[in-house]
Amino acid sequence: MKKNQINVEMIPDSELKPKFESEDDIGFGQIKTDRMFTARYKDGVWQEFTIKKYSKIVLDPTAVCFHYGQTIFEGQKAFLTSDGQLQLFRPEQNIARFNLSAKRMMMPTIDPNIYLTGLKELLRLEKDWAPKSVGSSIYIRPAMIGIEPSIGLRASNEYLFFIILLPSKAYFPEILKIYVSERYIRTAPGGMGSAKTGGNYGGSLLEEHNAKKKGFHAVLWLDAIHRRFVEEVGAMNIFFVYNDNVYTTPLEQDTIVHGITRDCTIKLLQDIGYKVKEESLAIEDIIKGIKDGTVTESFGTGTAASIAPVGSIYYQNVDYVMNNFTIGSVTQKVREKLLGIQYGKIPDPYGWIVPVE
Ligand SMILES: Cc1ncc(COP(=O)(O)O)c(C=O)c1O
Repeated sequence: MKKNQINVEMIPDSELKPKFESEDDIGFGQIKTDRMFTARYKDGVWQEFTIKKYSKIVLDPTAVCFHYGQTIFEGQKAFLTSDGQLQLFRPEQNIARFNLSAKRMMMPTIDPNIYLTGLKELLRLEKDWAPKSVGSSIYIRPAMIGIEPSIGLRASNEYLFFIILLPSKAYFPEILKIYVSERYIRTAPGGMGSAKTGGNYGGSLLEEHNAKKKGFHAVLWLDAIHRRFVEEVGAMNIFFVYNDNVYTTPLEQDTIVHGITRDCTIKLLQDIGYKVKEESLAIEDIIKGIKDGTVTESFGTGTAASIAPVGSIYYQNVDYVMNNFTIGSVTQKVREKLLGIQYGKIPDPYGWIVPVE
């Protein structure tokens, strides 16, 4: 798509929002920038590529997304380097995953070129919103919803794609206390667990709420069949350092989100010299390992959370603390590398960085 195919609507200066005064209190996902990118799918084609003022979406009450869950989204970030460059991180991976989610939810895929050109142009216009401190970034939320008015159970014939930008700090500011759900599951083989679709998250809200009420940061989900093998955390993939190897849940069952941070973490760990095993660990082995000292660290990985150290795991009414509730050396090393590349502080030998301009 050529840049001039995007209709950029003018916003008078008087209607631009004041920028935040201090980065200390921007929080996560609370601030929205002035503009959004939108596109419509109608009559079998994507059209109406527009950058306009951030605004509400008005839909018919029978729109398919309200009833049959045709909603998908992505989560990615743009980082400001110390020399003032705004850069994306592996955006082609988010686009590919977005299109896999679309296929699973019987929604149209989007041309990667439309997605990336729209995103870059939006970021270029909104660059002044980028926070400067390491750990902060512009969180990017692309989404697609089925908007055709139709109460019959079938896929929508019309869709809205939009991208909004939310300058944010780190999602988790501290070491995590994780709660293992024994009562509920997030997804099952044959379900839609690897798609980033609203229903997967909607179904997790009750247990997330229960866990937070008890003082935990997030839920660790177990597999649906055996209720034993660890799958992933609310919005993160999970890693354990066990017997000097690093373990993470395999992707084959398609029950977990195929995390881009997970993929980077595996590569970085291997390049640092650790052995990574993509194997399912049973929760009772993890607990045993914490008790006998063979499980030495755990961390979650995700775009929003980055690499987040796990300090304790609550299972069957007992809180098991790891590494004296401090960040472990493996977690520290891989986190420094990832953040170093994302903020342009160390070279990127992997080709993960995509400059916005
Ligand atoms: C359920 C779930 N697991 C894992 C992840 C981590 O994926 P990524 O590293 O691509 O952000 C996310 C975030 O997208 C998620 O929502």
